[in-house]
Amino acid sequence: MPRLDDAQLLSEAVRKVNAREKVNELERKVLSTGGSFGGAKPKALIEINGEQWIIKFFNNEPIDVPLVEHATMTLANKAGIQVAETKVIRLIGEHVLLVRRFDRQGLKRIHSVSAGTALRAITPAGQEPNFGYPALAQLLRSAGDQENKRNSEDMKELFRRMVFNILIDNTDDHEKNHALLVESRNKHGKYKLSPAYDVLTTNSGQGYQEFICGINQRDSTLENAMSQFNLFGMTSDEAVSQVVRVIDVVDGWKKHFVSCGVCESDLNSLSDRIDGEELLKERRSFTPSDYTSRSVKKKTSLFSR
Ligand SMILES: Nc1ncnc2c1ncn2[C@@H]1O[C@H](COP(=O)(O)OP(=O)(O)OP(=O)(O)O)[C@@H](O)[C@H]1O
Ligand SMILES: [Mg+2]
Repeated sequence: MPRLDDAQLLSEAVRKVNAREKVNELERKVLSTGGSFGGAKPKALIEINGEQWIIKFFNNEPIDVPLVEHATMTLANKAGIQVAETKVIRLIGEHVLLVRRFDRQGLKRIHSVSAGTALRAITPAGQEPNFGYPALAQLLRSAGDQENKRNSEDMKELFRRMVFNILIDNTDDHEKNHALLVESRNKHGKYKLSPAYDVLTTNSGQGYQEFICGINQRDSTLENAMSQFNLFGMTSDEAVSQVVRVIDVVDGWKKHFVSCGVCESDLNSLSDRIDGEELLKERRSFTPSDYTSRSVKKKTSLFSR
């Protein structure tokens, strides 16, 4: 497996593939180690101190995406979201992102399935799966580890991830961008949320998420996120306090991104979205008292629809 020292070689190989230039034998070998990871961006696997890391390359985006992804992931962590460990390294003329694999521990494999696979598996044949946060929360409720209420903690964290993704404009939260770890046999194969990955402000401002958030489907609003708080196993007061916690962290996004080294022109571009009219209004107009006295909507099973 390639090492950190091979990152420049890998980067050159990726550039050649993108430019449809011929790669040499060594480049072909380093690129193909570890198989394909899927996802839209070019990536490869490297080894650092016996651990496997995914290396994600810059893909000619208008902003420094590797740095922005690292900044967004570490900001998410401040909001009580477990994230895959990330590092940024500088190569000639570009940053690249390193993300530590959560489905490996040294040589040991940890069974992981995407939310898409897990939700499809509980959907009757012929029906469309319900790809969304409330449905995934309900799956964790029934198939997560109930000992010490660990599944309840996962359900709350999933709620925070949804709120964070809405507020930070990470609209690319589709069913392959969430995963579950299958716990060891003595836990009877229970599901557990994997660390979050591929969390970055997409700078799209599209106004809707790729994963269903609530009764208004994919709408990127806190009202929609709050609409089915009960399916995340929380009271309205608990859900409100989670939203307030995430708003507080997102309010500090710029300071955090600066500390990660994001340049001024990228900050200005991201600011147009994160602090733009729509998302800033979501943060500023969130009113806890709108929810605290509201009666909990009748609990319905998502899977019986
Ligand atoms: N830290 C990790 N450990 C294990 N598997 C991971 C990790 N990060 C990503 N993956 C797997 O690799 C796939 C691609 O990674 P990622 O989503 O980061 O790439 P991407 O190219 O940005 O994807 P997208 O097409 O969603 O933009 C993920 O769907 C997931 O299955
Ligand atoms: Mg992805």
